[in-house]
Amino acid sequence: AGAGAVIIVNTEDAALPATLGETPGVVPTAAVQKTAGEALRDGQQATLLLATTIQKQTSRNVIAETSTGDPDRVVMAGAHLDSVPEGAGINDNGSGSAALLDVAQKLGAAPPAGQKVRFAWWGAEEIGLVGATRYVESLSEQDRARLALYLNFDMVGSPNAGYLVYDGDDSDGLGGQPGPAGSETAEQVLTDALVAAGVQGPEGTAFDGRSDYGPFIEAGVPAGGLFTGAEEKKTPEQAQKWGGTAGQSYDSCYHTPCDGLSNIDRTALDRNVTAMGSAIGRFAEDLTGIPPR
Ligand code: PHE
Ligand code: ZN
Ligand code: ZN
Ligand code: ZN
Repeated sequence: AGAGAVIIVNTEDAALPATLGETPGVVPTAAVQKTAGEALRDGQQATLLLATTIQKQTSRNVIAETSTGDPDRVVMAGAHLDSVPEGAGINDNGSGSAALLDVAQKLGAAPPAGQKVRFAWWGAEEIGLVGATRYVESLSEQDRARLALYLNFDMVGSPNAGYLVYDGDDSDGLGGQPGPAGSETAEQVLTDALVAAGVQGPEGTAFDGRSDYGPFIEAGVPAGGLFTGAEEKKTPEQAQKWGGTAGQSYDSCYHTPCDGLSNIDRTALDRNVTAMGSAIGRFAEDLTGIPPR
């Protein structure tokens, strides 16, 4: 529970002493003010719930697209802007957001591209992919069908970096799910782009919907993305080819206060941004391997 957390004695519990509240289901002020210890001291066998103050907040997606390119075949790339409240969220996901901004600035507003390229910086990923879900829901059926491909970048500078590509066809035996046809092309192009950026043997990672591509694949849009790893541990074989520390998390500061400015492997971030730029550029020019929808 964050700041402003209160302990509420659950008045919906039928076994509660009447002194806690007159109306079942309504938490009386006195109960809210009681701590768990106080309730126990007072001999109340209450069910104790931890509750966080609910605040209504507005979150926004930031979307920008090229003025050029075929509007009927849009290549989208996105990264979430929000973090968990525990920390600044520099690797998760300042890294993906900044990398995507760099690619967008270098591509420019009016590249001579075949496809329109649309960038999205999502809000409210951490509370359940809310920004991306609302975006996909908000499109007309026709505009959804215009999406040729979605590429996602969530955590691309982990301090003990893995070089991982979403396993879009679920052929790598990593769990997750096979994505819509074309997701395997995204996986292949991103893998080749990492190799060209100097990475030895990039590996697949579960395509399980744990980030903003989830609502896109649910809508049938082929998708892919890069990831340098969160709480999972680097294997000895991975440390051998990529460096870093075997047996330690890719990002031991994942969702904690230490996800600050020092929580970035700049070499990993650099290779990822290079690979992002070349993959986005490839699909802006050439949609070979991405089926028409
Ligand atoms: N979406 C997760 C988060 O923001 C990170 C993550 C990305 C985990 C991709 C697994 C795969 O916390
Ligand atoms: Zn996160
Ligand atoms: Zn994230
Ligand atoms: Zn695969």
